Amino acid sequence: MLETAYAAQTGNPRDCIIVALDCPPAEAISLADKLVGHATWLKVGMTLFYKAGPVIIEELHKQGFNIFLDLKLYDIPHQVEGAAASAASTGADLLSLHALGGPTMVQAAQAGIAALKQEKVTETVAITILTSFDNETLERVGIEKPLDVEVDTLASLAIESGANGLVCSPQEVGKLRELLGTSPRIVTPGVRPAGTAAGDQSRIATPADALMAGASQLVIGRPITGVADPIAAFDACLKEVEEVLK
Ligand code: C5P
Repeated sequence: MLETAYAAQTGNPRDCIIVALDCPPAEAISLADKLVGHATWLKVGMTLFYKAGPVIIEELHKQGFNIFLDLKLYDIPHQVEGAAASAASTGADLLSLHALGGPTMVQAAQAGIAALKQEKVTETVAITILTSFDNETLERVGIEKPLDVEVDTLASLAIESGANGLVCSPQEVGKLRELLGTSPRIVTPGVRPAGTAAGDQSRIATPADALMAGASQLVIGRPITGVADPIAAFDACLKEVEEVLK
């Protein structure tokens, strides 16, 4: 078993796949119903959460799923402290925020969650640079450092400021593991099984490559949710994960 894979902690390879439900509530519920007994983790992002509200987390928890609440918090520290507390009070297992918000913002999020004194603490993962960015896009928004250097800077800053883990592209995981060791939870979107469409993702890898590079968990959306048979697509990804972990 790969030490860095989340399944090394839980013993269940299914825990390495987080299925992103980026769709309206009715579709999300129908997908979740199908995924019961297959997937163990679902990601609720802004598309779903802004429409369905916190009740969606409760419903999905009742079905037995762990939830990554991907709200990508980014604001002044005071606002993020409150937002993280509100988000964590839904009972979400994992919550995302932007490392670009800076050390004080990341610390404020941790403080907001800690103040809740929940039995099961919501962990945080910090986004470095969105996986839809490439060097050219970064330059266009005025960041002149090469993408890989900027990712290292943001990742170190977030972990030093108390984040439990990171979100980064599979192509950056290897370097971040070297930099930060095996303990941070590293979640990688931009995962595409061979032969599936990249969509708007720029820095992609297959499930096996992402795990081998040191990812803890993989976020997979459209390759599972956007096809005729989501269960077959999930099982194909799981097979790839199991091959790597055995
Ligand atoms: O459909 P797809 O597999 O591209 O979905 C990837 C998911 O991961 C989306 O929900 C997207 O918001 C999220 N994500 C990302 N890049 C990041 C952080 C999150 O693509 N850096």
